[in-house]
Amino acid sequence: MPVFPADQLSPDLRRRNQVHAVRLSELTTMRIGGPATLVILEERKDLPELLALPHRWLGRGANLLVGDQGVGEVVIKLGAAFDSIALGAPVDGKALVKVGAGYDLARLIAATVKAGLAGPEGLAGVPATIGGALRMNAGTSTCWTLDWVTRVEVLLPGESAPRWLDRAALPGAYRSSGLPTGTLFLAAELVLAVGDPELLRATSVRLKQAKAASQPLALPSAGCMFKNPSPTCPAGKLIDELGLKGVRIGGAEISQIHANFIVNPQRTATVADVTALVRRIRRSAWTQRNIVMELEVETWDCPAELHAHPETLLEHDACLR
Ligand code: EPU
Repeated sequence: MPVFPADQLSPDLRRRNQVHAVRLSELTTMRIGGPATLVILEERKDLPELLALPHRWLGRGANLLVGDQGVGEVVIKLGAAFDSIALGAPVDGKALVKVGAGYDLARLIAATVKAGLAGPEGLAGVPATIGGALRMNAGTSTCWTLDWVTRVEVLLPGESAPRWLDRAALPGAYRSSGLPTGTLFLAAELVLAVGDPELLRATSVRLKQAKAASQPLALPSAGCMFKNPSPTCPAGKLIDELGLKGVRIGGAEISQIHANFIVNPQRTATVADVTALVRRIRRSAWTQRNIVMELEVETWDCPAELHAHPETLLEHDACLR
């Protein structure tokens, strides 16, 4: 896949923003992904030029699987201009926090815990930028990003100017903001209740310890691969019950620790290895439990079969026999 030619970006844009030739395996926690042209966006005035080009938005790369051939679009990451936080003084037990979408979620949690403001600590240990957390409505079984967000600044696909939306305008669902694919989040406002910093710190430490005990955090992965089919049927438990823990194809492996993680222990896995494991899991879940498993991770230029209904995969396999 030819990468986007950097010389098609205007000299002004290239002067005001960093432009790099990258391998996306270096910018994703799964450590898979081919080459791309990356723009680190510093100037809002360059948004119109970039929006007119084929583009993709990159956050922390924690929930993303990229094809080995890379992507032909410009990959845009928010730079220092979107990496700020402002904590307001509490009034009547609540404080307004403004945060840029490029800001790291772990840093937001550290800042709000220190200031004794409750809410974000429930997401302790979730790897994300604020923009990525909003886009995915990142969460745990008890807490979601949109729980504590009151307004977001977004650029909707097809629009040329950013605008602020109230929380009520965000449909919000399990692992989704509910806004269209391609929406760019630029900033968020949160109204947080005053809490006891020591209790908030204890909660964040407990959540991080629980995650470290139950998830393979030491190995490259994209976090949970699949959405939970239902609250009573967690994907990890299902894959475990299907007997697939530890199955390895090429460099990719279904984690022994948490079966909803596909890990890349030696950083040698290709997207084809991951696709083969995903296919194996989806086929087993369909034939043995009649469950269609849906990917949670976002995919860029990956094989289409990652999203195909398992029935069609079975038909395809039957044709090959
Ligand atoms: N389980 C197994 N075997 C496994 C994995 C899990 O039996 O291999 C069982 C657990 O023992 C537990 C149940 O399945 O009884 C649920 O597991 P867990 O508590 O780990 O929660 P989860 O539903 O698998 C969700 C989120 C995680 C988040 C955790 C903790 C999804 C798909 N996953 O996992 O999010 O960290 O809750 O709150 O909603 C992510 O989105 O990338 C992610 C890791």
